[in-house]
Amino acid sequence: MAEIIDGKMVSARLREQMRTTVEALRARGITPGLAVVIVGEDPASCVYVRNKERACAEVGIYSEKHALPQETTQEELLALIETLNARSDINGILVQLPLPAQIKPEAVIAAIRPDKDVDAFHPVNVGCIMTGGYRFVPCTPAGVMELLKTTGVPIRGKDCVIVNDSNIVGKPMAMLLLHEHATVTVCHIDTRDLPEKTRRADILITAIGKPRFFGPEHVKDGAIVIDVGTSRDADGRLSGDVDFDRVAPKASFITPVPGGVGPMTITMLLKNTITAARQANGIADA
Ligand code: GUN
Repeated sequence: MAEIIDGKMVSARLREQMRTTVEALRARGITPGLAVVIVGEDPASCVYVRNKERACAEVGIYSEKHALPQETTQEELLALIETLNARSDINGILVQLPLPAQIKPEAVIAAIRPDKDVDAFHPVNVGCIMTGGYRFVPCTPAGVMELLKTTGVPIRGKDCVIVNDSNIVGKPMAMLLLHEHATVTVCHIDTRDLPEKTRRADILITAIGKPRFFGPEHVKDGAIVIDVGTSRDADGRLSGDVDFDRVAPKASFITPVPGGVGPMTITMLLKNTITAARQANGIADA
């Protein structure tokens, strides 16, 4: 039977450490600051943004929310980013995605100063993740790496299979695992014979957003299973990609949904914001 990786607990422990780090920075007159920009009123985005603000307050990071109306133009949003880029009290800028159709996300991401890009979406930061020596790591893959670390299982040489090829999750996840010398397979919607691929995984990472899609037939005995997916099933219950009850007996470690990867994502945003504040003030990483 698998050991459950408790993302809530890991997240709480990391936030406690961050609170101490932020206190020490504040004692030196440095308060890390995050600006969160949201355009429109997508309900899920509003919840994420509220959780981000709450998490900042919890560890002592200053945060401010810029809520813009749905009909905001790209020029108006770019003007706000210019202002935030220039402010010395703002170390991190996060523009909540998705954006309304009239705004090109690439243009917005490219306008954020790379040293304030706490999502690590700017092409400069994406390039750094490819080559190594990066300062920011996208929040979800960074959270997965932290959870893998808690298992104590070395990643070097492991067969890792990721089922997601997005810029936010699958691609950076592959790079982080490659930097740890894993052998990485990235699967996606056109992958043929998915169970044959996923059954090879020592570490299986899923992010497809289909409730309980992955069953024991997809999983090798003793695999580590990390479930990034969150979706609602037919009964409206929050559900992961993995059929937890049937897969757990086969796995060595498994993350639950909720309470696995989810709580880690915002924690990694806090970490990136603290990193940005340190760098802006010429302080080496802890
Ligand atoms: N929307 C969903 N996930 C994310 C994220 O990680 N960052 C931003 N900016 N928007 C998102």
